[in-house]
Amino acid sequence: MNKVLITGGAGFIGSNLADELIKIGNEVVIIDNLISGKKGYLNPKAKFYKTNICSNDIEKIFKKEKFDYVFHLAAQIDVGKSVEDPIFDNKINALGSLAIFKHSAKNRVKKVIFASTGGALYGDVSAPAAEEDLIYPLSPYAIHKYAAERYLELRKELNNLNYAVLRLANVYGPRQYKGGECGVIGIFTHNAASGNESILYGDGSKTRDYVYVDDIVNAMILSKNSKYSGVFNIGAGKETSVLGLIKTIEKITKKRFIYNRKEDKPGEVKRSILNYDKAKKLLGWRPRTDLETGIRQTLKWLKNK
Ligand SMILES: NC(=O)c1ccc[n+]([C@@H]2O[C@H](COP(=O)([O-])OP(=O)(O)OC[C@H]3O[C@@H](n4cnc5c(N)ncnc54)[C@H](O)[C@@H]3O)[C@@H](O)[C@H]2O)c1
Repeated sequence: MNKVLITGGAGFIGSNLADELIKIGNEVVIIDNLISGKKGYLNPKAKFYKTNICSNDIEKIFKKEKFDYVFHLAAQIDVGKSVEDPIFDNKINALGSLAIFKHSAKNRVKKVIFASTGGALYGDVSAPAAEEDLIYPLSPYAIHKYAAERYLELRKELNNLNYAVLRLANVYGPRQYKGGECGVIGIFTHNAASGNESILYGDGSKTRDYVYVDDIVNAMILSKNSKYSGVFNIGAGKETSVLGLIKTIEKITKKRFIYNRKEDKPGEVKRSILNYDKAKKLLGWRPRTDLETGIRQTLKWLKNK
């Protein structure tokens, strides 16, 4: 049995990952300060430390628990907030990540899997972005995620720490909606299910590569088991505009989607789509859930929660 740490394991992706890792026989420890995560999402079989990844507790926890693998997902995830308060974003996403990687190397963790961002890192694209394409961050969030990637790569050089950087596209699915800010599908499906009005920022032509959370969990587990260290794009490889998304929601709910327009937010890219050929070739990963199926599953979860 492997002992794994999930930072951010009370969050949307982290809690889905924890459930699956426990289901397939791993011992799971979670570190989360619950700033956006939920206690109710914590798997009861996981050991839980409520603390900040930037705190001095981290050193003691690593020393005591002796993890085989580390999944680092805890982050300040709000792009707009990173523009307003880049220093706070730097503390969590760059320095906090650096601490997790440092203690992983010091305690001889077998591999670190890091949730980076594909959506924000490549800037505006005109074709599916591949890993070797130019990095063009348009927000402090993207800059700090990239800094964390490079720290992790350096740990491989300095300490032979194995790693997988997963540059995730726009992830959606059950547990994303926690009230307030979250991904657009989380907000739109919630509003569609409850009959509330949504806000459409910009003219609806902005595109994203939407990937379902179960596919992300699968990519993380395949990365853990892979012999390769490296950077991998994880996305559906399909571009959907916000207006296209609204059409899909209307098709599923058989209702008109009600929204109001507002000016676009700063730091947001206009087009985003990832090429996942490398993950397909080296990890044997591919997205399995199409957008319509994923939205249906998300709506089902919203109705039953
Ligand atoms: N959701 C997406 O579309 C998406 C896309 C690209 C990358 N990512 C990355 O995936 C990871 C998980 O994102 P998510 O969508 O599940 O977000 P989330 O907000 O649901 O999860 C983040 C978790 O980290 C915890 N956390 C935040 N700051 C912390 C701190 N300082 N110390 C300890 N815990 C802290 C939160 O309480 C939360 O449980 C993040 O690193 C995010 O940047 C997400």
